[in-house]
Amino acid sequence: MMRLQKFMATAGVASRRASEKLIAEGKVNVNGRKVTEMGFQINEYKDIVHVRGKRISVNLKEAKMYYVINKPRGYLSTSKDERGRKTVLELVPKEDRLYPVGRLDQNTSGILIMTNDGDLTYGLTHPKHEVPKTYVVKVSPVPTKENISKLRSGGDIGVYKIRACEISLRTLEEENATYVVTIHEGKNRQVRNMFEYIGCEIVTLKRIAIGELSLKGLRLGKSRQLEDEEVKYLKELAEIEN
Ligand code: URA
Repeated sequence: MMRLQKFMATAGVASRRASEKLIAEGKVNVNGRKVTEMGFQINEYKDIVHVRGKRISVNLKEAKMYYVINKPRGYLSTSKDERGRKTVLELVPKEDRLYPVGRLDQNTSGILIMTNDGDLTYGLTHPKHEVPKTYVVKVSPVPTKENISKLRSGGDIGVYKIRACEISLRTLEEENATYVVTIHEGKNRQVRNMFEYIGCEIVTLKRIAIGELSLKGLRLGKSRQLEDEEVKYLKELAEIEN
């Protein structure tokens, strides 16, 4: 799905602003019907759009799509699974040919970006950009303060070396503790490996933010398209020209 004014702008009809004006002036038809409603969503694969009586279209292979999903546990962050397990592709529109930006483990839930923009994927996952990712991790038993300080300052954790990171305590119970952890790299199973290194078992792990992009309002298993401002922000994080 795509906003009508975005479709028009992508088709090269006019800027998004000017397209909104054309819509408001009643110059745009979708499937033969005049649309004046702002923010009207169309199915860019099926709907037929006319502007001033002339059919317009976009090259859908080139149209970049950006989604954010709230991945539940149990879904794989891969495009295909030979064993028929559930993948994150089931959580976004199929036609858009999206793929995940980086990975969340099968048992990790939370925020994941899905796009067909290879440059953004490359930029966001490149270690040199140090894109911060924030997790809420519940572990058991309760670690010592010394061990948490050790993780905070980075260094060798057995499987690899990690950089310094931020860790703050969120809740403390007798048998377990929950921390908010922000890492600036994304090594395989990093948060799990960090806490396993200090002798903890991971009870739950959820990613709540990528930079300042958070899960806010997005229910588990749901997806939404990113706003233009959000895409712009992510491109800045990935150091890509807008
Ligand atoms: N760290 C992990 O251990 N798992 C994830 O899925 C993401 C970060």
